[in-house]
Amino acid sequence: MTRLRVIIWEMEKIVSLQKSALKEISAAKDLDELEGLRRKYFSKKSGELAKIIKDLPKLEPEKRREVGQLVNQAKVEVEKALEEKSSQLSAPSSQLDWLDITAPGIPTPEGHLHLITQAIREISGIFERIGFVRRRYPEVETDWYTFEGLNMPKNHPARDEWETFFITDNIVLTPHTSSGQLREMERGQLPIRMINISRCARRQSDISHVPIHYEFEGLLIDKNVSISHLKGVLTHFAQEFFGPERKIRLRPYDFRFTEPSFEIDVICHLCQGKGCRFCESGWTELGGAGMVHPKVLENGGIDPKEYSGFAFGWGVERTYLMKSNVNIPDIRLIYKNDIRFLKQF
Ligand code: DAH
Repeated sequence: MTRLRVIIWEMEKIVSLQKSALKEISAAKDLDELEGLRRKYFSKKSGELAKIIKDLPKLEPEKRREVGQLVNQAKVEVEKALEEKSSQLSAPSSQLDWLDITAPGIPTPEGHLHLITQAIREISGIFERIGFVRRRYPEVETDWYTFEGLNMPKNHPARDEWETFFITDNIVLTPHTSSGQLREMERGQLPIRMINISRCARRQSDISHVPIHYEFEGLLIDKNVSISHLKGVLTHFAQEFFGPERKIRLRPYDFRFTEPSFEIDVICHLCQGKGCRFCESGWTELGGAGMVHPKVLENGGIDPKEYSGFAFGWGVERTYLMKSNVNIPDIRLIYKNDIRFLKQF
């Protein structure tokens, strides 16, 4: 081989070593592999670039200069690549390889209020817009506010309907929000326009009852209040909550704390009043109402000769289930807390 060809051969070898070193380094997947490559090219004994550097003194001076220059340049490049790759693999930013900050994000699942919380807000909103004030009275209550003061003396058979949990002879888990009526009257601020929404308990559990449910109680007391005011407020509520096509009717009934008393029916959402298997009569029952009994007004410290009023009250869950677009076959599903069910509302 002529001198020139030897130099060219050496130089080609260096260039191709540098090329393959850079390629291997950039493909290295971890620090161990990178360390292997460092040894392959630079270990004192067998490193491929190290060997050429070590043998430089054996070359003739001119050859040494050219080959030396090239091999040093290759050494600098390869070492730089090793260093860069090493910091890339060890820094947390190594994860940036796969991180594409321009890719669309994964949307966080969005929660929503429980359907009964939504219903309570809707109901209180409807009454608040016509001047009623939201209240919440005790859920553990005395016999007086729950029964006796509402004209249901001890041992009166009417009490049976309330399926009450007694804590002691005198303390109950309130079975209805009517227990808030006297408490509201005792505030001594007339006129009264209250909407009391809170939790009630009864010894009942079947497809249309849960042991703990929410009720809302309206109470309006002022001068010259009549049944037509009651009917107007109830119609307003029914049309806002159920839709303008859902008529209501008042049916005579008996409650001890109102006189006269009514049950309120709303036209059935399934048959629109024609009568079907669900409602039979074309109407479904919403709840109770009536003109506040003079004795109850007296118990609340209000003069029945000067003031009169009406009251109404019924369950939030039941009312919600009677919306036309809601089809829940068992009221207890509402409180099972199954996300698959609740998600739908
Ligand atoms: N509290 C009654 C119940 O739980 C419903 C009721 C009837 C409330 C008549 C009233 C009313 O305010 O006037 O069945």
